[in-house]
Amino acid sequence: MKVLITGVAGFIGSNLLDYLIANTDWQITGIDNLSTGSEINIAEHKNNKRFTLIKQNCTDVRSLKEYDKVFHLAALPRIQPSFELITEHITANLVSGIHLIETMVRENHFPRFIYSGSSAIYGTPEHIPTAEDESVSCLSPYAFQKYEIEKYIELIATRYPLDYVTLRYFNPYGPRSFNPANKFNAYSSVVGIFLNHKKNGQELLITGDGQQKRDFIHVSDLAKANYQAAIFPSKLNTAFNIGNGSTLSILDLAKMISDKYSFIAKREGEADITFADITKATTMLKWAPVYKIEDYIKQELKG
Ligand SMILES: NC(=O)c1ccc[n+]([C@@H]2O[C@H](COP(=O)([O-])OP(=O)(O)OC[C@H]3O[C@@H](n4cnc5c(N)ncnc54)[C@H](O)[C@@H]3O)[C@@H](O)[C@H]2O)c1
Repeated sequence: MKVLITGVAGFIGSNLLDYLIANTDWQITGIDNLSTGSEINIAEHKNNKRFTLIKQNCTDVRSLKEYDKVFHLAALPRIQPSFELITEHITANLVSGIHLIETMVRENHFPRFIYSGSSAIYGTPEHIPTAEDESVSCLSPYAFQKYEIEKYIELIATRYPLDYVTLRYFNPYGPRSFNPANKFNAYSSVVGIFLNHKKNGQELLITGDGQQKRDFIHVSDLAKANYQAAIFPSKLNTAFNIGNGSTLSILDLAKMISDKYSFIAKREGEADITFADITKATTMLKWAPVYKIEDYIKQELKG
């Protein structure tokens, strides 16, 4: 089995690489332009014969013919910068994915395409917990770009035999979520930022009143969901929510980490609540989250 991971040097990509190295015998190629990712994230696999890193843009990929599966994770996944650096985000989040889809069509070769989608496409949802048929309500250019790829895949699949799975991640946390060298690190996952501030003896800064709630999902659970999507024996051609199926307020999260916190202005473009209905993934993909955020935080605070 030969697989490709785009965005392999990022937070989720590097954790997916760890998972596939540990749990499969697959040959893995990773591509990354290192715009926000880091070779440090994948350093432990540098000399592994089963892994090859290619430093390139997704748009420079010439062929996908040798792959059986493509995990497409490369993106600029931050809401606030997507309002400011719009063209850069369209290129990373939209054009990159379209290029890969077009390559499959041009070569008439359709490896399973496992796309990292986002719960951001639901905005602040009407239904809690939120199932996959919730209406789309994009509050940011980032959310819209993630949705556009989903829609393009769906449309292209009406004409060509695409084999795809979209995984709509809720709020990932875990090792390597905070990369100090990432130019967008101020907008990383809140768990990573809070832990980093705590480690540096700084006060935690809570946006708004902290009552906004998030469905936090451990990155190893995401990696497992990618694996389950990859090995599913037949075409799925659908989207799955990948969350924990529970929700925690940002204020409660802050209190779990530190008693030194204060409040800053609410940010536009961010949802009031994310809370996944994961029935579809648990029944169809036979996937279920196993990690608990309290355990992760306890372990991180112990050092
Ligand atoms: N982290 C989250 O909160 C979150 C939530 C929902 C969905 N997602 C999705 O998960 C995926 C991975 O996110 P992440 O948190 O690991 O992000 P990340 O920024 O840590 O990793 C993304 C990686 O992609 C690389 N990259 C960016 N543009 C590229 C391009 N054009 N060509 C090649 N490489 C490129 C970056 O250098 C980086 O290593 C993204 O598609 C994102 O939209 C993330």
